[in-house]
Amino acid sequence: MSTNLHPTFDKMLPREAKESLLGQRGLVIWLYGLSGSGKSTLAHLLERKLHDQEIFTKVLDGDNVRTGLNNNLGFSDEDRKENIRRVAEVAKLFADAGAVTITSFITPRNELRAIAREIIGDDDLLEVYVKASFETCAERDVKGLYAKAKAGEVKQFTGKDSAFEEPDHADLIIDTEAESESDSLEKLYVVVSGRVRLG
Ligand code: ADX
Repeated sequence: MSTNLHPTFDKMLPREAKESLLGQRGLVIWLYGLSGSGKSTLAHLLERKLHDQEIFTKVLDGDNVRTGLNNNLGFSDEDRKENIRRVAEVAKLFADAGAVTITSFITPRNELRAIAREIIGDDDLLEVYVKASFETCAERDVKGLYAKAKAGEVKQFTGKDSAFEEPDHADLIIDTEAESESDSLEKLYVVVSGRVRLG
């Protein structure tokens, strides 16, 4: 696979040069949890709040990325793994360019979370479990997918016929059943802004 390649990583302008230009540190905030748990909402609110504080950001969201880069992937275990691998590689590229990168993917199994961690590296990663039960997400059913899954119209649906594992590791847990939207956002913002500001 990787034969006859001559990477030139050593010739690239160092990451630190970009970070000092931007006045921030690159970081990946990996939001994971069930569909409907609140990942995308939080990702967009967090991005807006950071942007207002003049922090340069990029959001990578499952539903969007799956229309482009990952439009050849479905929801089998194998495809989800490839989805996460690619997104982790892309997130790493953005973080290397100094961006505060917020990802929003179900990332349903611990093995997948470990793959993302392995690619991005502990120093550049904040793993955030956006927690809400299957029942709560099914009640919210913002996209109508839980109703469809119940009717048998969505195959391999996460939490129903495709596993969602409780995490064995998280840097932060955002419980969207117990906390208000603004509390969750504030909690996340405090941790993130503490890690990305230079000096
Ligand atoms: S992941 O498991 O590979 O991390 P990802 O976050 O990219 O999933 O995509 C999940 C989104 O795809 C959901 O928010 C939902 O809108 C949509 N979706 C479509 N089919 C499924 C399915 N079978 N299971 C879960 N989500 C699905």
